[in-house]
Amino acid sequence: MVAQKITIEPVTRIEGHAKITIRLNDAGKVEHAYLHINEFRGFEKFCEGRMVFEMPYITPRICGICPVSHHLASAKAGDAVMGAQPPRPASLLRELMHMGQIVQSHGMHFFELAGPDLLLGFDSDPATRNVVGLLQANPDLTVKAVNLRKWGQEIIATLGGRRIHPVFAVPGGVNKALKPAERDAILAGYDETIATIQTGLQIIKDWAAAHMEDINKFGVFPTGYFGLVNPDNALELYSGQIRLIGADGKQLEKFEPSHYLDYIAEHVENWSYLKFPYYKKLGYPQGVYRVGPLGRLNNSESITTPLANEELKHFKALNPGKPVENTLYYHYARLIECLYAAEHVKDLLDDPDIFSTDILNTCHNPQPEGVGVIEAPRGTLIHHYWADETGKIQKVNLIVSTGHNNWAMCEAVDSVAKTYITGPEIHEGLLNRVEAAVRAHDPCLSCSTHAVGQMPIILEIRDAHDDLVETLRRD
Ligand code: MG
Ligand code: NI
Repeated sequence: MVAQKITIEPVTRIEGHAKITIRLNDAGKVEHAYLHINEFRGFEKFCEGRMVFEMPYITPRICGICPVSHHLASAKAGDAVMGAQPPRPASLLRELMHMGQIVQSHGMHFFELAGPDLLLGFDSDPATRNVVGLLQANPDLTVKAVNLRKWGQEIIATLGGRRIHPVFAVPGGVNKALKPAERDAILAGYDETIATIQTGLQIIKDWAAAHMEDINKFGVFPTGYFGLVNPDNALELYSGQIRLIGADGKQLEKFEPSHYLDYIAEHVENWSYLKFPYYKKLGYPQGVYRVGPLGRLNNSESITTPLANEELKHFKALNPGKPVENTLYYHYARLIECLYAAEHVKDLLDDPDIFSTDILNTCHNPQPEGVGVIEAPRGTLIHHYWADETGKIQKVNLIVSTGHNNWAMCEAVDSVAKTYITGPEIHEGLLNRVEAAVRAHDPCLSCSTHAVGQMPIILEIRDAHDDLVETLRRD
Protein backbone atom coordinates (compact mmCIF):
# COMPACT_ATOMS: atom_id res chain seq x y z
CA MET A 1 0.00 0.00 0.00
CA VAL A 2 1.45 3.32 -1.09
CA ALA A 3 0.86 6.41 1.03
CA GLN A 4 -1.85 8.63 -0.44
CA LYS A 5 -3.35 12.09 -0.33
CA ILE A 6 -7.04 13.04 -0.95
CA THR A 7 -8.29 16.54 -1.80
CA ILE A 8 -11.93 17.65 -1.42
CA GLU A 9 -12.63 20.69 -3.62
CA PRO A 10 -14.91 22.49 -3.49
CA VAL A 11 -16.23 21.91 -0.01
CA THR A 12 -19.94 22.01 -0.72
CA ARG A 13 -22.87 23.53 1.15
CA ILE A 14 -20.79 26.08 3.00
CA GLU A 15 -20.82 29.77 2.25
CA GLY A 16 -17.93 30.19 -0.19
CA HIS A 17 -15.19 27.67 -0.93
CA ALA A 18 -12.30 25.84 0.74
CA LYS A 19 -9.82 23.07 0.02
CA ILE A 20 -9.16 19.97 2.10
CA THR A 21 -6.07 17.81 1.69
CA ILE A 22 -5.94 14.37 3.24
CA ARG A 23 -2.47 12.89 3.45
CA LEU A 24 -2.26 9.12 3.81
CA ASN A 25 0.74 7.21 5.13
CA ASP A 26 2.33 4.08 3.66
CA ALA A 27 -0.18 1.94 5.57
CA GLY A 28 -3.12 3.79 3.94
CA LYS A 29 -4.14 5.49 7.19
CA VAL A 30 -4.72 9.21 7.52
CA GLU A 31 -1.46 10.90 8.46
CA HIS A 32 -3.01 14.37 8.63
CA ALA A 33 -5.91 16.26 7.05
CA TYR A 34 -5.54 19.95 6.26
CA LEU A 35 -8.13 22.65 5.66
CA HIS A 36 -6.78 25.45 3.51
CA ILE A 37 -8.55 28.77 3.30
CA ASN A 38 -6.90 31.16 0.91
CA GLU A 39 -7.21 34.54 2.47
CA PHE A 40 -6.87 37.58 0.29
CA ARG A 41 -6.07 40.59 2.46
CA GLY A 42 -7.11 43.25 -0.02
CA PHE A 43 -10.14 44.66 1.74
CA GLU A 44 -8.42 46.24 4.73
CA LYS A 45 -6.00 48.06 2.39
CA PHE A 46 -8.76 49.01 -0.01
CA CYS A 47 -10.61 50.95 2.73
CA GLU A 48 -7.68 53.23 3.55
CA GLY A 49 -8.42 56.79 2.50
CA ARG A 50 -12.22 56.36 2.61
CA MET A 51 -14.36 58.38 5.00
CA VAL A 52 -15.57 56.67 8.16
CA PHE A 53 -19.24 57.39 7.35
CA GLU A 54 -18.85 55.49 4.07
CA MET A 55 -17.62 52.34 5.81
CA PRO A 56 -21.07 50.86 6.70
CA TYR A 57 -21.76 50.90 2.95
CA ILE A 58 -18.36 49.75 1.72
CA THR A 59 -17.64 46.88 4.12
CA PRO A 60 -20.86 44.90 3.36
CA ARG A 61 -19.27 44.40 -0.07
CA ILE A 62 -16.75 42.10 1.63
CA CYS A 63 -19.42 39.48 1.54
CA GLY A 64 -22.75 38.81 -0.16
CA ILE A 65 -23.55 36.24 2.56
CA CYS A 66 -23.41 38.36 5.69
CA PRO A 67 -23.51 42.01 4.60
CA VAL A 68 -25.81 42.93 7.50
CA SER A 69 -23.19 41.83 10.04
CA HIS A 70 -20.52 44.00 8.43
CA HIS A 71 -22.96 46.89 8.07
CA LEU A 72 -23.71 46.88 11.81
CA ALA A 73 -20.17 46.20 13.09
CA SER A 74 -18.95 48.97 10.81
CA ALA A 75 -21.57 51.42 12.08
CA LYS A 76 -20.53 50.61 15.66
CA ALA A 77 -16.88 51.24 14.84
CA GLY A 78 -18.05 54.48 13.17
CA ASP A 79 -19.93 55.52 16.36
CA ALA A 80 -16.67 55.17 18.27
CA VAL A 81 -14.53 57.03 15.70
CA MET A 82 -17.07 59.88 15.43
CA GLY A 83 -17.57 59.93 19.21
CA ALA A 84 -21.32 59.77 18.60
CA GLN A 85 -23.15 57.31 20.83
CA PRO A 86 -26.47 56.40 19.12
CA PRO A 87 -29.73 57.27 20.93
CA ARG A 88 -31.36 54.25 22.56
CA PRO A 89 -34.10 53.86 19.87
CA ALA A 90 -31.41 53.64 17.18
CA SER A 91 -29.63 50.84 19.04
CA LEU A 92 -32.94 48.99 19.41
CA LEU A 93 -33.57 49.23 15.66
CA ARG A 94 -30.05 48.11 14.77
CA GLU A 95 -30.44 45.18 17.12
CA LEU A 96 -33.79 44.35 15.51
CA MET A 97 -32.12 44.20 12.11
CA HIS A 98 -29.39 42.03 13.61
CA MET A 99 -31.96 39.58 15.01
CA GLY A 100 -33.52 39.36 11.53
CA GLN A 101 -30.10 38.43 10.18
CA ILE A 102 -29.56 35.78 12.90
CA VAL A 103 -32.95 34.16 12.22
CA GLN A 104 -32.51 34.05 8.45
CA SER A 105 -28.89 32.87 8.56
CA HIS A 106 -29.31 30.24 11.30
CA GLY A 107 -32.61 29.04 9.83
CA MET A 108 -31.11 28.62 6.38
CA HIS A 109 -28.01 26.90 7.71
CA PHE A 110 -29.94 24.33 9.68
CA PHE A 111 -32.60 23.45 7.17
CA GLU A 112 -30.85 23.99 3.85
CA LEU A 113 -27.09 23.58 4.39
CA ALA A 114 -26.84 21.09 7.28
CA GLY A 115 -30.32 19.61 6.79
CA PRO A 116 -29.44 17.37 3.84
CA ASP A 117 -26.84 15.47 5.92
CA LEU A 118 -29.06 15.22 8.97
CA LEU A 119 -32.39 14.55 7.29
CA LEU A 120 -31.27 12.52 4.26
CA GLY A 121 -28.09 11.00 5.72
CA PHE A 122 -24.34 11.50 5.29
CA ASP A 123 -24.25 8.50 2.95
CA SER A 124 -27.30 9.35 0.84
CA ASP A 125 -26.93 9.94 -2.90
CA PRO A 126 -24.96 13.16 -3.37
CA ALA A 127 -27.07 13.98 -6.44
CA THR A 128 -30.10 14.57 -4.21
CA ARG A 129 -28.32 15.30 -0.89
CA ASN A 130 -29.28 18.94 -1.13
CA VAL A 131 -32.27 21.21 -0.79
CA VAL A 132 -33.94 19.62 -3.84
CA GLY A 133 -33.74 16.20 -2.18
CA LEU A 134 -35.11 17.69 1.01
CA LEU A 135 -38.04 19.18 -0.83
CA GLN A 136 -38.85 15.78 -2.34
CA ALA A 137 -38.51 14.02 1.02
CA ASN A 138 -40.34 16.56 3.12
CA PRO A 139 -42.15 19.28 1.14
CA ASP A 140 -44.03 20.66 4.18
CA LEU A 141 -40.93 21.20 6.22
CA THR A 142 -39.09 22.74 3.31
CA VAL A 143 -41.84 25.31 2.83
CA LYS A 144 -41.74 26.14 6.54
CA ALA A 145 -37.97 26.56 6.34
CA VAL A 146 -38.33 28.94 3.41
CA ASN A 147 -40.89 30.99 5.37
CA LEU A 148 -38.60 31.09 8.39
CA ARG A 149 -35.81 32.57 6.33
CA LYS A 150 -38.21 34.98 4.68
CA TRP A 151 -39.35 36.30 8.05
CA GLY A 152 -35.78 37.23 8.96
CA GLN A 153 -35.15 38.72 5.54
CA GLU A 154 -38.31 40.81 5.73
CA ILE A 155 -37.14 42.35 9.01
CA ILE A 156 -33.90 43.35 7.30
CA ALA A 157 -35.75 44.67 4.25
CA THR A 158 -38.26 46.61 6.37
CA LEU A 159 -35.48 48.52 8.09
CA GLY A 160 -32.81 48.59 5.40
CA GLY A 161 -34.92 49.01 2.31
CA ARG A 162 -33.66 45.73 0.80
CA ARG A 163 -32.72 42.21 1.83
CA ILE A 164 -28.99 42.53 1.24
CA HIS A 165 -26.64 45.51 1.39
CA PRO A 166 -29.00 47.54 3.61
CA VAL A 167 -29.03 51.33 3.71
CA PHE A 168 -29.78 51.92 7.36
CA ALA A 169 -27.10 52.31 10.02
CA VAL A 170 -24.83 55.36 10.02
CA PRO A 171 -22.26 56.46 12.62
CA GLY A 172 -24.37 57.90 15.45
CA GLY A 173 -27.56 55.98 14.73
CA VAL A 174 -29.86 54.92 11.90
CA ASN A 175 -31.58 56.84 9.11
CA LYS A 176 -35.10 55.46 9.36
CA ALA A 177 -37.63 54.97 12.18
CA LEU A 178 -40.07 52.06 12.41
CA LYS A 179 -43.78 52.51 11.67
CA PRO A 180 -46.59 50.74 13.57
CA ALA A 181 -47.80 48.98 10.39
CA GLU A 182 -44.29 47.61 9.85
CA ARG A 183 -44.19 46.25 13.37
CA ASP A 184 -47.58 44.57 12.88
CA ALA A 185 -46.42 42.96 9.63
CA ILE A 186 -43.41 41.43 11.40
CA LEU A 187 -45.49 40.25 14.37
CA ALA A 188 -47.97 38.54 12.03
CA GLY A 189 -45.31 35.92 11.23
CA TYR A 190 -44.10 35.47 14.80
CA ASP A 191 -46.04 32.36 15.87
CA GLU A 192 -45.18 30.41 12.74
CA THR A 193 -41.53 31.38 13.13
CA ILE A 194 -41.37 30.09 16.69
CA ALA A 195 -43.18 26.88 15.70
CA THR A 196 -40.76 26.18 12.83
CA ILE A 197 -37.69 26.72 15.01
CA GLN A 198 -39.17 24.39 17.63
CA THR A 199 -39.75 21.79 14.92
CA GLY A 200 -36.08 22.17 14.00
CA LEU A 201 -35.07 21.71 17.64
CA GLN A 202 -37.09 18.49 17.83
CA ILE A 203 -35.41 17.27 14.63
CA ILE A 204 -31.89 17.87 15.91
CA LYS A 205 -32.65 16.32 19.29
CA ASP A 206 -34.19 13.22 17.70
CA TRP A 207 -31.26 13.03 15.30
CA ALA A 208 -28.76 13.30 18.14
CA ALA A 209 -30.54 10.57 20.12
CA ALA A 210 -30.40 8.26 17.08
CA HIS A 211 -26.77 9.12 16.23
CA MET A 212 -25.11 9.34 19.64
CA GLU A 213 -22.12 7.39 18.38
CA ASP A 214 -21.45 9.98 15.66
CA ILE A 215 -22.05 12.86 18.07
CA ASN A 216 -19.45 11.45 20.45
CA LYS A 217 -16.72 10.69 17.95
CA PHE A 218 -17.18 13.46 15.37
CA GLY A 219 -14.76 16.31 16.07
CA VAL A 220 -14.83 16.30 19.89
CA PHE A 221 -11.90 18.20 21.42
CA PRO A 222 -11.17 20.82 24.11
CA THR A 223 -10.75 24.55 23.35
CA GLY A 224 -11.60 27.84 24.96
CA TYR A 225 -14.87 29.63 24.06
CA PHE A 226 -15.25 33.28 23.14
CA GLY A 227 -18.14 35.69 22.66
CA LEU A 228 -20.18 38.63 23.92
CA VAL A 229 -22.23 38.37 27.10
CA ASN A 230 -24.30 40.85 29.09
CA PRO A 231 -23.33 41.90 32.67
CA ASP A 232 -25.03 38.74 34.04
CA ASN A 233 -23.12 36.48 31.63
CA ALA A 234 -26.29 35.95 29.60
CA LEU A 235 -26.11 35.48 25.82
CA GLU A 236 -25.63 38.79 24.00
CA LEU A 237 -25.32 39.27 20.24
CA TYR A 238 -25.24 43.04 19.73
CA SER A 239 -23.44 44.73 22.66
CA GLY A 240 -21.91 43.79 26.01
CA GLN A 241 -18.45 42.56 26.94
CA ILE A 242 -16.34 39.76 25.51
CA ARG A 243 -16.05 36.76 27.78
CA LEU A 244 -13.49 34.01 27.31
CA ILE A 245 -13.70 30.71 29.17
CA GLY A 246 -11.15 27.91 29.22
CA ALA A 247 -11.61 24.26 28.26
CA ASP A 248 -12.61 23.55 31.88
CA GLY A 249 -15.46 26.08 31.64
CA LYS A 250 -13.90 28.60 34.03
CA GLN A 251 -13.74 32.27 33.08
CA LEU A 252 -10.33 33.41 31.86
CA GLU A 253 -11.22 36.98 30.94
CA LYS A 254 -14.07 39.42 30.58
CA PHE A 255 -13.19 42.65 28.85
CA GLU A 256 -14.38 45.61 26.79
CA PRO A 257 -14.44 44.66 23.09
CA SER A 258 -12.35 47.74 22.25
CA HIS A 259 -9.45 46.20 24.20
CA TYR A 260 -9.36 43.04 22.09
CA LEU A 261 -5.73 43.58 21.00
CA ASP A 262 -4.61 43.22 24.63
CA TYR A 263 -6.00 39.68 24.68
CA ILE A 264 -5.84 38.22 21.18
CA ALA A 265 -2.94 37.64 18.83
CA GLU A 266 -2.94 35.90 15.45
CA HIS A 267 -0.68 32.95 14.61
CA VAL A 268 0.49 32.22 11.07
CA GLU A 269 1.00 28.72 9.59
CA ASN A 270 2.85 28.19 6.32
CA TRP A 271 0.09 25.96 4.88
CA SER A 272 -2.80 28.41 5.36
CA TYR A 273 -3.25 32.05 4.36
CA LEU A 274 -5.91 32.54 7.03
CA LYS A 275 -4.46 33.50 10.42
CA PHE A 276 -5.18 31.65 13.67
CA PRO A 277 -6.32 33.95 16.50
CA TYR A 278 -5.54 32.80 20.07
CA TYR A 279 -5.58 34.07 23.64
CA LYS A 280 -2.23 35.73 24.22
CA LYS A 281 -1.68 34.69 27.84
CA LEU A 282 -1.96 30.98 27.01
CA GLY A 283 -0.02 31.20 23.74
CA TYR A 284 -0.56 29.15 20.58
CA PRO A 285 -2.07 26.60 20.29
CA GLN A 286 -2.97 26.32 24.01
CA GLY A 287 -4.93 29.58 23.74
CA VAL A 288 -7.17 28.64 20.80
CA TYR A 289 -10.89 29.06 21.25
CA ARG A 290 -14.16 28.59 19.39
CA VAL A 291 -16.75 31.21 18.48
CA GLY A 292 -20.21 31.01 16.93
CA PRO A 293 -23.21 29.19 18.41
CA LEU A 294 -21.23 26.55 20.33
CA GLY A 295 -18.75 29.12 21.62
CA ARG A 296 -21.48 31.51 22.70
CA LEU A 297 -23.71 28.99 24.46
CA ASN A 298 -20.74 27.50 26.31
CA ASN A 299 -19.89 31.05 27.35
CA SER A 300 -23.41 32.05 28.41
CA GLU A 301 -24.87 31.11 31.76
CA SER A 302 -28.40 32.00 30.70
CA ILE A 303 -30.51 33.49 27.92
CA THR A 304 -32.80 36.46 28.47
CA THR A 305 -35.81 35.01 26.61
CA PRO A 306 -37.88 32.24 28.22
CA LEU A 307 -38.16 29.57 25.50
CA ALA A 308 -34.50 29.73 24.53
CA ASN A 309 -33.46 29.77 28.18
CA GLU A 310 -35.44 26.57 28.81
CA GLU A 311 -33.67 24.96 25.86
CA LEU A 312 -30.30 26.19 27.10
CA LYS A 313 -30.84 24.15 30.27
CA HIS A 314 -31.11 21.00 28.14
CA PHE A 315 -27.98 22.03 26.25
CA LYS A 316 -26.06 22.57 29.50
CA ALA A 317 -27.21 19.17 30.75
CA LEU A 318 -25.32 17.50 27.88
CA ASN A 319 -22.09 17.98 29.86
CA PRO A 320 -22.98 19.34 33.30
CA GLY A 321 -20.60 21.99 34.63
CA LYS A 322 -18.36 21.71 31.56
CA PRO A 323 -18.39 23.09 28.02
CA VAL A 324 -20.05 21.03 25.27
CA GLU A 325 -17.18 20.03 22.97
CA ASN A 326 -19.00 18.08 20.25
CA THR A 327 -18.75 19.74 16.85
CA LEU A 328 -22.11 18.33 15.75
CA TYR A 329 -23.80 20.17 18.63
CA TYR A 330 -23.08 23.39 16.74
CA HIS A 331 -26.35 22.59 14.96
CA TYR A 332 -28.29 22.32 18.22
CA ALA A 333 -26.69 25.50 19.61
CA ARG A 334 -27.50 27.33 16.37
CA LEU A 335 -31.20 26.57 16.68
CA ILE A 336 -31.29 27.65 20.32
CA GLU A 337 -29.82 30.97 19.25
CA CYS A 338 -32.32 31.18 16.41
CA LEU A 339 -35.09 30.76 18.98
CA TYR A 340 -33.57 33.51 21.14
CA ALA A 341 -33.29 35.87 18.16
CA ALA A 342 -36.94 35.31 17.21
CA GLU A 343 -38.15 35.83 20.78
CA HIS A 344 -35.95 38.89 21.11
CA VAL A 345 -37.53 40.39 17.98
CA LYS A 346 -40.80 40.46 19.90
CA ASP A 347 -39.14 42.02 22.98
CA LEU A 348 -37.68 44.75 20.80
CA LEU A 349 -40.98 45.38 19.01
CA ASP A 350 -42.76 45.65 22.38
CA ASP A 351 -40.27 48.24 23.65
CA PRO A 352 -41.91 51.65 24.27
CA ASP A 353 -39.01 53.36 22.43
CA ILE A 354 -39.31 51.31 19.24
CA PHE A 355 -41.29 53.94 17.25
CA SER A 356 -39.24 56.89 18.52
CA THR A 357 -37.81 59.19 15.86
CA ASP A 358 -34.86 60.10 18.10
CA ILE A 359 -32.59 57.90 16.02
CA LEU A 360 -29.49 59.91 15.18
CA ASN A 361 -26.86 61.60 17.33
CA THR A 362 -25.39 64.42 15.24
CA CYS A 363 -22.98 65.70 17.94
CA HIS A 364 -19.50 64.49 17.01
CA ASN A 365 -16.38 64.20 19.13
CA PRO A 366 -13.88 62.58 16.73
CA GLN A 367 -11.49 59.98 18.09
CA PRO A 368 -8.28 58.61 16.54
CA GLU A 369 -9.60 55.06 16.53
CA GLY A 370 -12.72 53.04 17.15
CA VAL A 371 -13.73 49.40 17.49
CA GLY A 372 -17.11 47.88 16.60
CA VAL A 373 -17.87 44.33 17.69
CA ILE A 374 -20.99 42.23 17.19
CA GLU A 375 -21.79 38.54 17.34
CA ALA A 376 -22.44 37.74 13.70
CA PRO A 377 -24.34 34.48 13.06
CA ARG A 378 -20.98 32.70 12.63
CA GLY A 379 -19.24 34.33 15.60
CA THR A 380 -17.51 37.43 16.86
CA LEU A 381 -16.94 40.06 14.17
CA ILE A 382 -14.43 42.83 14.88
CA HIS A 383 -14.10 46.06 12.89
CA HIS A 384 -11.29 48.38 14.03
CA TYR A 385 -10.66 51.70 12.29
CA TRP A 386 -7.97 54.33 12.75
CA ALA A 387 -8.89 57.76 11.33
CA ASP A 388 -7.50 61.28 11.12
CA GLU A 389 -9.34 64.30 12.61
CA THR A 390 -11.49 64.65 9.47
CA GLY A 391 -12.74 61.08 9.72
CA LYS A 392 -10.59 59.78 6.87
CA ILE A 393 -9.58 56.14 7.42
CA GLN A 394 -5.84 55.58 7.95
CA LYS A 395 -5.87 51.90 8.80
CA VAL A 396 -8.36 49.03 9.16
CA ASN A 397 -8.22 45.74 11.03
CA LEU A 398 -10.96 43.17 10.58
CA ILE A 399 -11.19 39.85 12.38
CA VAL A 400 -14.05 37.75 11.05
CA SER A 401 -15.82 34.81 12.71
CA THR A 402 -14.31 32.25 10.39
CA GLY A 403 -10.84 33.47 11.37
CA HIS A 404 -11.54 32.89 15.09
CA ASN A 405 -12.74 29.37 14.24
CA ASN A 406 -9.88 28.59 11.88
CA TRP A 407 -7.97 26.37 14.32
CA ALA A 408 -11.14 24.53 15.39
CA MET A 409 -12.20 23.86 11.80
CA CYS A 410 -8.74 22.53 10.93
CA GLU A 411 -8.74 20.34 14.05
CA ALA A 412 -12.25 19.06 13.30
CA VAL A 413 -11.27 18.16 9.72
CA ASP A 414 -8.18 16.27 10.90
CA SER A 415 -10.07 14.55 13.71
CA VAL A 416 -13.01 13.48 11.52
CA ALA A 417 -10.71 12.26 8.72
CA LYS A 418 -8.71 10.12 11.17
CA THR A 419 -11.85 8.78 12.85
CA TYR A 420 -13.82 7.85 9.74
CA ILE A 421 -11.27 7.13 7.01
CA THR A 422 -9.70 3.95 8.32
CA GLY A 423 -9.59 1.42 5.53
CA PRO A 424 -8.36 1.26 1.96
CA GLU A 425 -11.91 1.94 0.68
CA ILE A 426 -12.60 5.68 0.69
CA HIS A 427 -16.17 6.20 -0.38
CA GLU A 428 -18.00 9.45 -0.99
CA GLY A 429 -19.98 9.34 2.28
CA LEU A 430 -16.75 9.37 4.28
CA LEU A 431 -15.46 12.37 2.40
CA ASN A 432 -18.81 14.06 2.94
CA ARG A 433 -18.31 13.64 6.71
CA VAL A 434 -14.99 15.42 6.46
CA GLU A 435 -16.70 18.28 4.65
CA ALA A 436 -19.47 18.25 7.26
CA ALA A 437 -16.83 18.96 9.92
CA VAL A 438 -16.22 22.28 8.19
CA ARG A 439 -19.90 22.85 7.46
CA ALA A 440 -20.91 22.49 11.14
CA HIS A 441 -19.06 25.75 11.86
CA ASP A 442 -20.99 27.53 9.07
CA PRO A 443 -17.84 29.28 7.89
CA CYS A 444 -18.23 32.33 5.74
CA LEU A 445 -15.30 31.93 3.43
CA SER A 446 -16.40 34.88 1.36
CA CYS A 447 -15.68 36.93 4.46
CA SER A 448 -12.44 35.35 5.53
CA THR A 449 -11.06 35.43 2.03
CA HIS A 450 -12.45 38.91 1.43
CA ALA A 451 -13.30 37.70 -2.05
CA VAL A 452 -15.97 39.04 -4.31
CA GLY A 453 -18.14 36.13 -5.34
CA GLN A 454 -17.05 32.52 -4.97
CA MET A 455 -13.51 31.27 -4.72
CA PRO A 456 -12.80 27.84 -6.13
CA ILE A 457 -11.68 25.27 -3.63
CA ILE A 458 -10.95 21.33 -3.54
CA LEU A 459 -10.58 17.42 -1.53
CA GLU A 460 -7.26 15.90 -2.54
CA ILE A 461 -5.74 12.59 -1.47
CA ARG A 462 -1.96 12.52 -1.66
CA ASP A 463 0.47 9.75 -0.82
CA ALA A 464 3.63 10.01 1.28
CA HIS A 465 5.55 11.03 -1.86
CA ASP A 466 3.07 13.87 -2.47
CA ASP A 467 1.63 12.12 -5.53
CA LEU A 468 -2.01 12.92 -6.17
CA VAL A 469 -4.12 9.80 -5.86
CA GLU A 470 -7.66 11.17 -6.05
CA THR A 471 -9.41 14.51 -6.36
CA LEU A 472 -13.03 15.25 -5.49
CA ARG A 473 -14.64 18.23 -7.16
CA ARG A 474 -18.30 19.04 -6.87
CA ASP A 475 -19.83 22.17 -8.28
MG1 MG B 1 -7.45 41.41 10.06
NI1 NI C 1 -19.47 36.78 5.16
